[in-house]
Amino acid sequence: MIKKGIILAGGHGSRMSPLTKAVNKQLLPIYDKPLIFYPLSILMLSKIRDILIIVNKGQLNQYKKLLHNGENLGIKIKYIEQPYPKGLPDAFILGEQFIGSDNVALILGDNFFYGQSLSSKLVKSKNINNGAKVFLHKVKRPELYGVAKINNKNKIVGLKEKPKKYYSDYAITGLYYFDNNVVKHAKTLKPSKRNELEITDLLKKYLYKKKLSAEIIGRGGAWLDTGSIEDFYKTSNFVSSIENRQGFKIACLEEISLNNNWINKKNILNAIKFYGKCDYSKYLSSLISK
Ligand code: G1P
Repeated sequence: MIKKGIILAGGHGSRMSPLTKAVNKQLLPIYDKPLIFYPLSILMLSKIRDILIIVNKGQLNQYKKLLHNGENLGIKIKYIEQPYPKGLPDAFILGEQFIGSDNVALILGDNFFYGQSLSSKLVKSKNINNGAKVFLHKVKRPELYGVAKINNKNKIVGLKEKPKKYYSDYAITGLYYFDNNVVKHAKTLKPSKRNELEITDLLKKYLYKKKLSAEIIGRGGAWLDTGSIEDFYKTSNFVSSIENRQGFKIACLEEISLNNNWINKKNILNAIKFYGKCDYSKYLSSLISK
């Protein structure tokens, strides 16, 4: 069972400069909310309440201003600054104390997930006690990602990070569930050619011990990238289309907490006061006026 989750929101966001010169990428808007709301909502939908956010050096206060210690959301948020980006597995080295003797989920701060059966998949998958689990999604340009080759039983048989030659269509998305050995394994990794610790190398440690499993996000689910400015706008448009059509908000943190029975009407009123007069607050008040 996984009770703790890490959001890796470090990185310089250099592909989005100058937007990211003064503000961290995860605080920029995806339509009507800061990007960080989306990965945080995924952990909350997984019913994970103990959360560590790893941020760039010097940007801690901005995050605290937005999310505080999570109390009003019925969750616990801690923060750690990353002196410089060293690759995804560094999250487990920096987060060692936070993880303690527990299993842990990792989500990348710039990953966006959406889909009808997603919540139940998340909750089901987090019940792992032993091994690691990844979420795969078929993509048109697998060379941009870590990819997994799977057999006809959906078992992973091989992994490659950004393969130049075709290897598989299944990208490894930025959501990972690990048992507690992950800290030990992360410490044994050596930097790759791009001078980073690679998540694929970490996953291989589990694959070789036959302890890596996969959940496939099918074509009814969306996994979108927010790596470039273009992707940012595409993801924003996606959220805007769905929200304006249905009237529901995607990644409304307070709504998720309310549905999980982690908070009550008083917390919603606090949130409305905090956000001020805006569309998001209007939505919040509609949640408690039903
Ligand atoms: C990283 C991982 C890659 C994974 C991707 C998901 O890529 O290295 O395996 O598929 O995140 O977003 P990067 O963001 O370092 O290019």
